[in-house]
Amino acid sequence: MRVVVTGARGKVGQTAADALHNAGHEVVATDLMRPSFERADPREPHYVQADLTDAGDAFAVIRGADAVVHCAAIPEPTGNPAHVVFRTNMMMTFNCIEAAVRWGVKRFVNVSSETAPGFFFAERPFEPDYLPVDEEHPLRPQDPYALSKVFGEQLMDAAVRRSAIRAITIRPCWVQWEGSIEWNLGPQVRDRTVKTANIHSYIDVYDLADALVAAVESDLEGHEVFYIASPDNVGNNDFVELVRDVYGLELPIHALARRDASGISSAKAERLLGYAPKRSWRDYLDNDGHLLPAARERLAALGTSGPRYSHEEIR
Ligand SMILES: NC(=O)c1ccc[n+]([C@@H]2O[C@H](COP(=O)([O-])OP(=O)(O)OC[C@H]3O[C@@H](n4cnc5c(N)ncnc54)[C@H](O)[C@@H]3O)[C@@H](O)[C@H]2O)c1
Repeated sequence: MRVVVTGARGKVGQTAADALHNAGHEVVATDLMRPSFERADPREPHYVQADLTDAGDAFAVIRGADAVVHCAAIPEPTGNPAHVVFRTNMMMTFNCIEAAVRWGVKRFVNVSSETAPGFFFAERPFEPDYLPVDEEHPLRPQDPYALSKVFGEQLMDAAVRRSAIRAITIRPCWVQWEGSIEWNLGPQVRDRTVKTANIHSYIDVYDLADALVAAVESDLEGHEVFYIASPDNVGNNDFVELVRDVYGLELPIHALARRDASGISSAKAERLLGYAPKRSWRDYLDNDGHLLPAARERLAALGTSGPRYSHEEIR
């Protein structure tokens, strides 16, 4: 398939573009950064610069695609003014799905977020109704980022109502790779009382890329939404004890796939997408939350490139 990947110079988009390229798809990677004017490298996806808040750019870059994987976004609400987060994310998602519908694209994979239910950046904090959070949990966004993600999902609903396009929304958990995991998760590995709004959950960026490839290749009809999280929690804590003793929450706890389960359930993705995560924070960190030698070597090989799907192909 010819697959356009947006946000392809970002963590998720770059890894997804690599994974799709490795899987044999013809990938067009797009982002805000300028292209290189050197000889094309056949091992790299083709790259096109586009500002997707501009409808013309979105229509130009999506023309001729069989599928779009929409990763471009401002990925959290605290580093930009609220209206910029909302406007940027909404316009990009609107323009991309509009272009996809008008060009007759068959599959749209929309990257949303675990923040959609609302308890991550809430000005008035609240608790989940139950754990682990799954796709049945109500969405109560307050902040401009979560709102842009929830409204983006509604744009997918509208697209499948008015056209033959098939949409899949992926809500990733907090994304980790060699260059971020020690800083992000190390403190929680060392001290289980370090809390996060997702109850010690995370996603390995390479497992997420596999899920995005599965979404592109899926023949599911309509618009389906999936959480994607790594199956274990950070530190491999007993989940019931963690919720009670560390978070002090007295919530209904639904069936757990494992004792050290994530606070986010990917059971629906396992069932309908064939999501089969292979990696864990344990592949990167020791019991003190420090990078293992093998992960340190991979990080050194990656240099400034950010996460790349095929470590062995790093040049
Ligand atoms: N990182 C996480 O923990 C996390 C968790 C859940 C969901 N997500 C979602 O995953 C997706 C990818 O996030 P990421 O972590 O790779 O973020 P990132 O910031 O690394 O990548 C996002 C990319 O979008 C691009 N972009 C921004 N504005 C653009 C514009 N106007 N036109 C074209 N491209 C533009 C940026 O240049 C950047 O390369 C986002 O939709 C984000 O909301 C991320």
